[in-house]
Amino acid sequence: MNPNLLNITPELTASVATKVTAARQLLSEIARDFSPVVFANSLGAEDMVLTDLILTHKLAITVFSLDTGRLPAETYDLMAAVDKHYGVKLKVYFPHSEEVESYVRNHGINAFYESVTLRKACCYARKVEPLKRALAGKRAWITGLRAQQAATREGLPAREYDEGNGLEKFNPLADWSEKEVWTYIKQNNVPYNALHEKFYPSIGCAPCTRAISPGEDVRAGRWWWEAPESKECGLHVKG
Ligand code: ADX
Ligand code: SF4
Repeated sequence: MNPNLLNITPELTASVATKVTAARQLLSEIARDFSPVVFANSLGAEDMVLTDLILTHKLAITVFSLDTGRLPAETYDLMAAVDKHYGVKLKVYFPHSEEVESYVRNHGINAFYESVTLRKACCYARKVEPLKRALAGKRAWITGLRAQQAATREGLPAREYDEGNGLEKFNPLADWSEKEVWTYIKQNNVPYNALHEKFYPSIGCAPCTRAISPGEDVRAGRWWWEAPESKECGLHVKG
């Protein structure tokens, strides 16, 4: 949604207040019981809510981002704005250069448009492998996933065991609506990606993200040439 069109009603204010209390409590418990724990920050709207909750309350949770090398300029601007706003240096993981070089040499710079297999291979080299390094030696990780975001995320729990990566995974905003996310952002003056004002509700890599039209699904602009069932990059596989 375009954040400037949000109408903050008393009902929204009340539901956000309740959900913030629950999210803060969960985050504090995770920091206490699951150290070392990390938060994967894509700099999307949901992740800015969690970034604000974690950094404002100085919780013992390391915030990191995966820089695929293909992010939109606006996302890099937001990374810099986050550093400035919270007085931190975000921890950034990059892909292994040999993996990206070999992908591009073998398949081409934009080969992800050619097939789901080549798209997933690009996501693997640029996101999934770096994520594995970010999670190595950790007891839990936190994401900004919401159940309402996609068919693939329906019924998402606030806590699950991440079999693939072998550690606990927490989704503190699992039951939040998109409007609740934006209410928090607006009420707390949280910095956000300028692309959200241009009808980009969900933002990933620049070549794989486009704006959506009114009424379209929030993730319709991600890998828009693929069917909804394949639209996960491999960061969030089950089982
Ligand atoms: S994606 O898996 O399809 O890219 P999406 O953009 O909805 O997912 O993000 C879901 C969650 O995955 C985010 O809330 C964040 O926790 C994690 N995530 C996605 N992309 C990144 C990234 N580049 N860096 C760190 N975490 C990320
Ligand atoms: Fe590659 Fe696109 Fe996946 Fe980014 S989102 S890693 S550019 S396929």
